Amino acid sequence: MLKYLVAVICCIFSFAPLFAQQHQLMPVPKEVIWGEQRFQIDKGFHVVLNDTSASRAGKAVVRFLRRLDNRTQLLINKEFFRKPLNGVGPYLVIQYDRKGLLKPGEEESYSLQITGDQAILKAATDIGIVYGLETFLQLVASDNLGYYVNGVTINDQPRFVWRGLLIDVCRHFSPIDVITRNIDAMAMVKMNVLHLHLSEDQGFRIESKVFPKLHLLGSNGDYYTQEQIKYIIQYASDRGIRVVPEFDIPGHATSWFVGYPELAAAKGPYSIEKKFGVFGPSMDPTKKQTYKFLNKFLTEMCNLFPDEYFHIGGDENNGKQWDDNKNIQEYMRKHNIKNNHELQNYFNGKLLSILQKNKKKMIGWDEILQPGLPNDAVIQSWRGKEGLKEAATKGHQVILSNGYYIDLVQPAWKLYANDPAPSDLKLSDNEQKLILGGEATMWAELVTPENIDSRIWPRTAAIAERLWSPADVNAVNDMYRRLDIMNIRLEEIGVQHIINQEMMLRRIAQSNEITPLLNLVNVVEPLKDYKRHSQGIPYSTDLPFTRLPDIAFPDAKEARVFKMLCEQLVMKKDTTAKIEIEKQLLGWKNNHNELALISRNIPALKDWEKLSLLLQDVAAIGLESLQKMNNRTTVTDQWVTDSNKKLKEAALPVQESELMVVESVMMLFQYALPK
Ligand code: ACM
Repeated sequence: MLKYLVAVICCIFSFAPLFAQQHQLMPVPKEVIWGEQRFQIDKGFHVVLNDTSASRAGKAVVRFLRRLDNRTQLLINKEFFRKPLNGVGPYLVIQYDRKGLLKPGEEESYSLQITGDQAILKAATDIGIVYGLETFLQLVASDNLGYYVNGVTINDQPRFVWRGLLIDVCRHFSPIDVITRNIDAMAMVKMNVLHLHLSEDQGFRIESKVFPKLHLLGSNGDYYTQEQIKYIIQYASDRGIRVVPEFDIPGHATSWFVGYPELAAAKGPYSIEKKFGVFGPSMDPTKKQTYKFLNKFLTEMCNLFPDEYFHIGGDENNGKQWDDNKNIQEYMRKHNIKNNHELQNYFNGKLLSILQKNKKKMIGWDEILQPGLPNDAVIQSWRGKEGLKEAATKGHQVILSNGYYIDLVQPAWKLYANDPAPSDLKLSDNEQKLILGGEATMWAELVTPENIDSRIWPRTAAIAERLWSPADVNAVNDMYRRLDIMNIRLEEIGVQHIINQEMMLRRIAQSNEITPLLNLVNVVEPLKDYKRHSQGIPYSTDLPFTRLPDIAFPDAKEARVFKMLCEQLVMKKDTTAKIEIEKQLLGWKNNHNELALISRNIPALKDWEKLSLLLQDVAAIGLESLQKMNNRTTVTDQWVTDSNKKLKEAALPVQESELMVVESVMMLFQYALPK
């Protein structure tokens, strides 16, 4: 009876169209047809699945039921049933044909049909089931009648087969729990490749049983054991995610040489690099022993990582050691190798044959694309779209990372606008098919386990949508609406992107109230691109990454919302925005006194005062602008000159950070000027 009533009420109010406009799906599925019915989730909800809890689908259902119950607290039945319990709903029937293989191009589609009291999730593989369950969880809503899912039919499949996240575990190490929580987050947004960047100048991060001095001397003790790697691979596999290892050679390889200096093109000794940048040490590509070593080592790693793709890096080898080494120069003359590019190509050819012997496909960064590179090598394009195009036109599969460098802290809209296969690339259909997809890259110069999650999430969800959803899903405001929801949802599986910020603030503030610090941090972003490296801070792995730019989030939401309010007022002449703008500005103006009470006794907060004072000044100009736009005759030349000067000053970086509301206040200021 209750169910009948609910159905009737829902039909009367016909909530589907509104729900459709306001849906919370991310990435947006390929096809969504909203229905009128309501699937009520109550205590009787159960899953119908002919499988064990140890299978990929079974494990996914176990996680699904736990998450659903954690949200609804309905004490949902955690068993799987072979057929609907008592023949009545609400139940979710799960059906798939076979176990999915972890390789690009594997069937990932699923369909979800949700009507009055039954939901059916179907897929060709259990990987599709993993995705479909995530979609179901994103559909769960509630109102005064309880928890429910709006009736819907979804047919979904990804646009690109390669939807990756690179985590650099070398510049700063990411312990296993950082990796697993990020794998869970990837699964939430249907990403399917975890690319682990495992060796660098600053660290060698995996146990080698064949050459143990690699990890014992090259890692400062921070490395994954092979057992841990197996655990990560299984954890990822359970969520339909492949793990692709990268060993970056011949450059970016100082950490290898600490234990095995004979591999290098110059004598050594070597120590683990602490600074960041491009360094000289490089492998000697002319020595037989180099390949003997690499053959053994790469074979060991090929056996450990089941994925058919294997990344050998190959970027930014500056060739300095090669130029300075007489034997290498002699070798090049003798073998008619004309330059360092050709020499690296020769080196790559040797790597390729080792990998082929191990039945692997080689991936490398743009730089490995040299004449003679066999077609089955895959290019990861980081330098620009030209590289992507060149690789595809030369017949290589290619993965786009240029434009997805999340370490450069660009806003989500910019990442979202970056399409791996834009029409202006003018590729043929066959060339287009070679674009496998893209990878967000979390380079770790400036991140630690404390703040890595907040550099990855939520912005990577925008990239995930670009890689999964149809190309015409590109409305920025709607992306941000859903991204803000996703941001909170990501916490459900343990990502620490939000909670760690307050922890970091509390650490500095000691026992003080952190609100004044938070008020400032909320409108600050770390400097973008590579600008932080040119502000006079001698960055190295030794530094504490606990300062303002390490705490502030990329793409500050509060600044974004404030900008929208200002645009509403200035561009759309909507004066209702004024009240909210004024409230914000007053809060910022008054914040400094509160902050100063804390900072005066905390040396680590001294630097914050300058930015806080700038915020105070900017807010005051904003408030004055609001007043003057009511009566423009009060605008004086002196006020204009002073305000202009202050706004310009406030737009400059302070402590490798920038105040993100200056541009918006500038908009108010300009608007207040007599026309
Ligand atoms: C790279 O960013 N050097 C691949």
